[in-house]
Amino acid sequence: MTTLAGRSALITGAGSGIGLATARVLAAAGARVHLSGLEAAALRDAAAELGPPATWSVADVTDPAAVRAAVRAAVEAGGPLDVLVSNAGISGPIAALTDYPDDAFEQVLRVHVLGAFHLLKYGLPALRDGGSVIINSSVVGLTADPGIAGYATAKHAQVGLMRVAAMEGAARGIRVNTVHPGPTSTAFQTAIETAATGRDPAAAAAVFDGMIPLGRHASPDEIARVIAFLASDDASFVTGATLTADGGMSI
Ligand SMILES: NC(=O)c1ccc[n+]([C@@H]2O[C@H](COP(=O)([O-])OP(=O)(O)OC[C@H]3O[C@@H](n4cnc5c(N)ncnc54)[C@H](O)[C@@H]3O)[C@@H](O)[C@H]2O)c1
Repeated sequence: MTTLAGRSALITGAGSGIGLATARVLAAAGARVHLSGLEAAALRDAAAELGPPATWSVADVTDPAAVRAAVRAAVEAGGPLDVLVSNAGISGPIAALTDYPDDAFEQVLRVHVLGAFHLLKYGLPALRDGGSVIINSSVVGLTADPGIAGYATAKHAQVGLMRVAAMEGAARGIRVNTVHPGPTSTAFQTAIETAATGRDPAAAAAVFDGMIPLGRHASPDEIARVIAFLASDDASFVTGATLTADGGMSI
């Protein structure tokens, strides 16, 4: 199994779903994890489940001061960072471009693009040379579907940001990559699927399974293990990569 013994990681959107699964996998691999997110109760419960040295703090990734404070809290708790995981996200509405609400488009970009930018801007100075940054994009960071103008644009934009950061970080041996999960079984994805299909969660999930060559959703743990791989020395020559974990959906 991948080892992250002695490493220190900061994860955004860590109170649920893929972020929480990532915290669990990184901690199981030996890392000290700092969980950042919006909901104090969820973060407190997750940190308690993981036990010391897991720590947490509330930060809205769209707020630069909050992200700076989260980085500071992580460093105070666990020392200089080795791993940054930009995972916080929202899906936004499903609507044709001509009906897509302006404010929702802006908010989806703020969370994913500005959020990842803030984590890089304030996290990179706190990252040890040789560290690893993983941005959790999406299969629709490489492909598209109708109705998801905000989400697909935001997830594509994260690739551009990753590429700049990979170029700039290379001099310090810092690797920066994006992960592109396909449909993954979380409440977030169920909401997208029911809205997109107008069906109940099980029927909606079956429709999506039909679009995935492997014929099923990922578990959050399966995506977390890909993130752990990129965080680890097993990926020591991997930077600037767009790594799909989508059951073949983007083939
Ligand atoms: N579930 C999927 O099928 C899937 C597929 C591809 C990519 N993703 C991406 O994975 C990431 C995690 O999604 P998930 O499925 O685990 O859903 P989730 O809703 O469980 O996780 C998103 C987390 O981000 C947090 N968050 C939202 N806005 C925030 C903000 N402004 N500041 C800080 N935290 C904020 C939420 O509170 C939540 O804990 C997202 O970026 C999502 O776009 C998910």
